[in-house]
Amino acid sequence: MAHHFSDRVQFKSRLTFILAATGSAVGLGNIWKFPYMTGENGGGAFVFVYLVCVIMMGIPIMMAETMLGKRGQKNPISTMATLANQARANPAWKYLGWMGVLAGVIILSYYSVIAGKTIHYIGRILTGLLWDLDLAGAEAAIDGLNGSIFLLTLWHTLFIGLTMYIVMQGVNEGIEKAVEFLMPGLFLVLMVLVLYAAMSDGFQQGIDFMFTVDFGSLSADSVLMALGQAFFTLSLGMGAIMIYGSYLPPGVSIAKTSAIVALCDTLVAILAGIAIFPIVFANGLEPAAGPDLIFKTLPLAFSGMFAGTLFGLMFFVLLVFAALSSSISLIEPAISYVVEKWGLTRKTACIGAGIITWTLGMGTVFSTNIWIDKKFFGTTFFGFLDYLSANIMLPVGGILIAVFAGWIMRQSDTAESLQISEDGYLYRSWKFLVCYVAPIAVSLVLLGGLF
Ligand code: PFF
Repeated sequence: MAHHFSDRVQFKSRLTFILAATGSAVGLGNIWKFPYMTGENGGGAFVFVYLVCVIMMGIPIMMAETMLGKRGQKNPISTMATLANQARANPAWKYLGWMGVLAGVIILSYYSVIAGKTIHYIGRILTGLLWDLDLAGAEAAIDGLNGSIFLLTLWHTLFIGLTMYIVMQGVNEGIEKAVEFLMPGLFLVLMVLVLYAAMSDGFQQGIDFMFTVDFGSLSADSVLMALGQAFFTLSLGMGAIMIYGSYLPPGVSIAKTSAIVALCDTLVAILAGIAIFPIVFANGLEPAAGPDLIFKTLPLAFSGMFAGTLFGLMFFVLLVFAALSSSISLIEPAISYVVEKWGLTRKTACIGAGIITWTLGMGTVFSTNIWIDKKFFGTTFFGFLDYLSANIMLPVGGILIAVFAGWIMRQSDTAESLQISEDGYLYRSWKFLVCYVAPIAVSLVLLGGLF
């Protein structure tokens, strides 16, 4: 087991791995994206399909992806090349790594713009946004921000800069430190929000919206959205979890850590929904209000609660940190490739990646102002990048990871790396899910949603 003796950097412990992987998983996807996607796709049935996807595909693929990283001990591109070589498979498998690197750059480009809006809200709260706020005021605030190229660019630049600065410090210094205190804090403030929502007039309606399953309202495209959301929120299908798997210390149960990460991530998303939909209904807002949903509802919630400025401030600060612990994992595959393969320094790699993602991100900045009516494949530039990355690239990456782990790798190798016995129930269920369920279901949903 040569890979256990590599001199590659490693996370300090199992806990740090869990924190880093959870840090990658929990982010804007849970708090910003999950609620508005649920709202746009009709509520309960969407949530149900999303949960099924997390359990049937998310956890097994997370196990597979972590395992590939752990065996490969390199960036996703070289890992796929090495493992394909070991299995005497087609060297073209390395393009799976390339697609992941590309998806990471695309996602980071728009992720940064949204995270930038969150930073802006910290400033607005400090300067009194929440005092006597009403719906019109909340809408004016976000509309004003969306119209300002200057402000959007400013905060987008700051966020990309922060991301690259942390990644520059390397795995142990940058990434581990950033995630250690964040998760518990975010969880606590989220609980405060949930309590507030529980006392609001819209609570019952919010809960009904999220948990009443009516399949009649579910289109093929919504099913694809739910699948894409499951991949996006778990950071699967693009090498982020693979790269963290490559830093995994020996002797850790991949099955257990994957289940823990998926559980924490799902819990945060569901709690965010429970916090937000009651506010939506209590204020007569449309659940399908789109990507601005949390920027309209959260300020209203904080404005109405005791010590709202304090909690609001804490929440937006934590959300920025949660976004950072995800954004670093979006770009780490690209950085480690460029460093390991091209021999660039981490610093140069980060500056280069920063310039590329920043430039691409400007398209998202323009999507809410000068390009608002410009159509890219029938939607805005941001909408197009989001659809392409989350609903196509990540699921395709996920299928290929499942196929590689299930069909290409030797069974004894996968069992050894997962540290579970080949003829046990756990291994056989995993194998069945990655060999059949994940590839078939993802392909069907993709085809159904696209055509
Ligand atoms: N999982 C992150 C979120 O929910 O915000 C986003 C993300 C991070 C997606 C890393 C993909 C990824 F590789």
